[in-house]
Amino acid sequence: MAPLRRILSRSQIRRTVKGLAAQLRSDYGEERPVFVGCLKGAFVFLADLVRQVGIPLQVDFIMVSSYGMGTTSTGKITLLKDVATDLAGRHVVFVDDIIDSGLTLQCVREHLLSRGPASLRVCALLARESVLAEGAAIDYLGFPVPEGFVVGYGIDYAEQYRQLPDIYVLEGEG
Ligand code: PRP
Repeated sequence: MAPLRRILSRSQIRRTVKGLAAQLRSDYGEERPVFVGCLKGAFVFLADLVRQVGIPLQVDFIMVSSYGMGTTSTGKITLLKDVATDLAGRHVVFVDDIIDSGLTLQCVREHLLSRGPASLRVCALLARESVLAEGAAIDYLGFPVPEGFVVGYGIDYAEQYRQLPDIYVLEGEG
């Protein structure tokens, strides 16, 4: 098993999630937004986030797959599960754990916009510095992260490590 190097502790994550939730609370107020989490990776982040936001909101999920069982993106996005909520006229917040190449975000954004929401914003816990340098439109961001395969707090490597409360980089991968 590859060694893990911790890059973000649970208390750093907790503080940052609290800060993101405060921004969302102030931006959405009583608009009853729909938070759409990207399965599976975003399930831990979304669960912590919605409990901190403290305003009326709805939760739904979309499931796409880009990686299969390895560490390299296949460059192909497959829609495995669509949202069940009617998003027409709603304020939607897409929630993902990590924006890596940006491909998932690009595809999901187009897909969600095709449902006619009143607005669509993006909240990501992590995003690659390279994607941010390219100008990825992320409205609420937790942490920029450098290259290296990241696991923990919902994020997996071959379906392992999602349960870890802290975030790590897999040494010797990537
Ligand atoms: C991961 C992650 C993001 C996506 C980001 O999901 O959760 O959704 O990849 O990568 P990208 O920016 O290069 O498109 P993955 O497809 O591995 O599925 P999972 O969430 O079930 O782990």
